[in-house]
Amino acid sequence: MARHQDPSGSEDRVKPLTPRAPLRADKTDIRPFCPPQPPLPTHDELCVASSNPAPMLAKVAESADAVTDRADHWDSAYRDRGVAGVSWFQSEPALSLELIERLGVAPDAAVMDVGGGASSLVDHLVDRGFTDISVLDISQAALEDARLRVGEIAAVRWLHEDLLSWNPARRYGLWHDRAVFHFLTEEADRDRYLDCLGSGIEPGGGLIIATFAEDGPEYCSGLRVARYSAQDLLNLLGPEFQAVAVRRELHMTPGGVVQPFTWVAARAA
Ligand SMILES: C[S@@+](CC[C@H](N)C(=O)[O-])C[C@H]1O[C@@H](n2cnc3c(N)ncnc32)[C@H](O)[C@@H]1O
Repeated sequence: MARHQDPSGSEDRVKPLTPRAPLRADKTDIRPFCPPQPPLPTHDELCVASSNPAPMLAKVAESADAVTDRADHWDSAYRDRGVAGVSWFQSEPALSLELIERLGVAPDAAVMDVGGGASSLVDHLVDRGFTDISVLDISQAALEDARLRVGEIAAVRWLHEDLLSWNPARRYGLWHDRAVFHFLTEEADRDRYLDCLGSGIEPGGGLIIATFAEDGPEYCSGLRVARYSAQDLLNLLGPEFQAVAVRRELHMTPGGVVQPFTWVAARAA
């Protein structure tokens, strides 16, 4: 896997995150978000709602537990279903854009879309004049697709990395994670991610993180996931992050399945 180091980057470290911070509800903007309804189902879903586990899909999940090569797993997910066929596909990253605005992220900020895959967030940021966007993903297939779509432009760096072994060589003014952190079901992996976040975000930088909500699916793409409330996420982030806004989203998959998400926008101390 290619490694990319940004020569302009800082190797500064910050102290590890300490868990348990109260949600500052007085300053936090809490609103539900329901996007427009997409078209009717086109294929079977691989994400299973906790209230209705389908045995066939659970079997897929079991077999995926045995997959040791994460890159192959994610490449297959994108190649088998196509970018617009994966359950997390959204034609417009509306809530990401809303929260980026809410955080007041300037177009010259360094943006990291961790596990960005083939998401169209990068396209929208380019359209809005952002000049320093990094999209990191373990799936070469997803990155290739997005790169073909966006084209070779100086404003975008494509980082083919496993975030569990990646060390940020610089800090970012916005760290965006939609539907990646919730795949980390082992405490050691979550700690590794949070250390990475701590060393990769600028002081005062914005964080947007979206995971399945407490009543969301238990599996996605054949993998078990962890589910979070906004308070759970803020507790994990600890006092180094101050909540700016939280949202509940009902994402509709291309197959017509509703998936409740929890979103948190926060600012690093
Ligand atoms: C559910 S998808 C979400 C993709 C994108 N954030 C979006 O909203 O469309 C999860 C993404 O995380 C990536 N991913 C999973 N594990 C990863 C890891 N260890 N390192 C980097 N990327 C990872 C997958 O390849 C996939 O693109």
